[in-house]
Amino acid sequence: MVAENRGARQMNVVHELEKRREAARAGGGARRVEAQHAKGKLTARERVELLLDEGSFEEFDMFVAHRSHDFGMEADRPSGDGVVTGWGTVNGRLIYVYSQDFTVFGGSLSETHAKKICKIMDMAIQNGAPVIGMNDSGGARIQEGVASLAGYAEVFQRNIMASGVVPQISLIMGPCAGGAVYSPAMTDFIFMVKESSYMFVTGPDVVKTVTNEVVTAEELGGALTHTKRSSVADGAYENDVEMLSEARRLIDFLPLNNRQKAPVRPFFDDPARLEPSLDTLIPDNPNQPYDMKELVTKLADEGDFFEIQRDFAANIVTGFIRIEGQTVGVVANQPMVLAGCLDIDASRKAARFVRFCDAFEIPILTLVDVPGFLPGVSQELGGVIKHGAKLLFAYGEATVPKVTLITRKAYGGAYDVMASKHLRGDFNYAWPTAEIAVMGAKGAVEILYRSELGDRDKIAARVKDYETRFANPFVAAEMGFIDEVIHPQSTRKRVARAFASLRGKKLVNPWKKHDNIPL
Ligand code: HXC
Repeated sequence: MVAENRGARQMNVVHELEKRREAARAGGGARRVEAQHAKGKLTARERVELLLDEGSFEEFDMFVAHRSHDFGMEADRPSGDGVVTGWGTVNGRLIYVYSQDFTVFGGSLSETHAKKICKIMDMAIQNGAPVIGMNDSGGARIQEGVASLAGYAEVFQRNIMASGVVPQISLIMGPCAGGAVYSPAMTDFIFMVKESSYMFVTGPDVVKTVTNEVVTAEELGGALTHTKRSSVADGAYENDVEMLSEARRLIDFLPLNNRQKAPVRPFFDDPARLEPSLDTLIPDNPNQPYDMKELVTKLADEGDFFEIQRDFAANIVTGFIRIEGQTVGVVANQPMVLAGCLDIDASRKAARFVRFCDAFEIPILTLVDVPGFLPGVSQELGGVIKHGAKLLFAYGEATVPKVTLITRKAYGGAYDVMASKHLRGDFNYAWPTAEIAVMGAKGAVEILYRSELGDRDKIAARVKDYETRFANPFVAAEMGFIDEVIHPQSTRKRVARAFASLRGKKLVNPWKKHDNIPL
């Protein structure tokens, strides 16, 4: 009889648990879920399910409710408080996640909502695993006032502490406005969904009131604005599903934390594969562009390239590939855009990427075809000196394995900047087509032989002479600044062997509290 009673009580308790779980999983209810779907957006839980390996999600704090007593809030205390948090795996590797639930108080951030996010961030830092945040929120919980602002600041502080310790990725899948934008802004990568997400510090209405500018939310802070113009975001995707599957792809390239190496993936591509087509990649005419991405994909295992900031400063290409199954960060000048010149935007973009790679022990491959820094009044007034210095600084401080290949031009200061020997490049290769000089032959002759400019034949002969002497890699190779001039077709093999030889590299910078990179 006693045992029967106990059994019945347990059944009741289990039933109660299931009931509570069901209520928590229902979020803001069927009507609001329907409205979410009608906007083409998935719910917070659907997103978590798609991001993580099937059945791997373990939830924390499902029953946490807010503690607010203002504005009648005590009568409405939904379980979970507008954010789903926990951990799971992506291709078997530990990941912490939070996913804001727009169907509960518009995903707005309360004191307790923030506490839930902070809890998983603290665990991620302690246990050494990435944090992926799915943002879909009306911002600070209006009913809570300063408690909500405090909650944001607690999250910010953890973003800062986690920076360089565990990878942090922000997936913007709905509104993200006001001070709320500063949490994603401090993470490593931001992805946005086209047309259903936006980020701005002040929205179109405030902008209209203050500056009288009329602008839509999409123009002010949509995915295209932030991937093409402001460079706040690193990738724009068509919908939630595409973004989540691309986020999984990115996670696969990254280490779990700054003390581990990136995972080594099985590969089915011979590291010694010859690529004869590379022998003719460089056009005969030195002013004719070619697509540097062709080289990147031909060097990569199975041609797999995950590009970062594809739509911004396309004169430099950044992203991840694998060579012999190991992650490599690629930085490459792109002759197809602005002739591959370095400018303010390209320098900032590449500097941040190089620093990410160095923070997380990802070796860097630099492919160089750069005619110099972009001249112009707007560049100078925009501070190209400081911004260009960011890339120089980032390369110079990086202690990860650095392999550099000059395919064609490496002129002036840009030669120095692009992971040259002098900035502790480990392997500095050049193709026979490389031209390493202070500037192009024509420009050089116009300065050196100004008095002969009227005589076209003489000038042509001078240009030819300068080209013969400097438009090749051998002067630099004689000085040991280039370690080896290699056949283009054997580049993958040479680069793979170089990185393999550097796996034990140990290089430590002098002790300092932190550096003072030109910001
Ligand atoms: C409480 C909120 C809320 C908020 C939305 N809701 N934002 N509840 N606090 N911040 C609720 C709504 O009342 C509504 O509840 C539900 O969420 C959905 O909102 P809708 O307005 O119906 O949705 P939609 O039309 O899609 O508009 C979304 C929105 C709008 C553009 C985000 O809700 C909005 O403007 N919200 C206020 C944004 C804001 O000003 N936040 C404070 C920013 S300042 P029901 O019950 O009807 O479903 C800030 C500072 C952060 O964030 C500082 C950090 C340092």
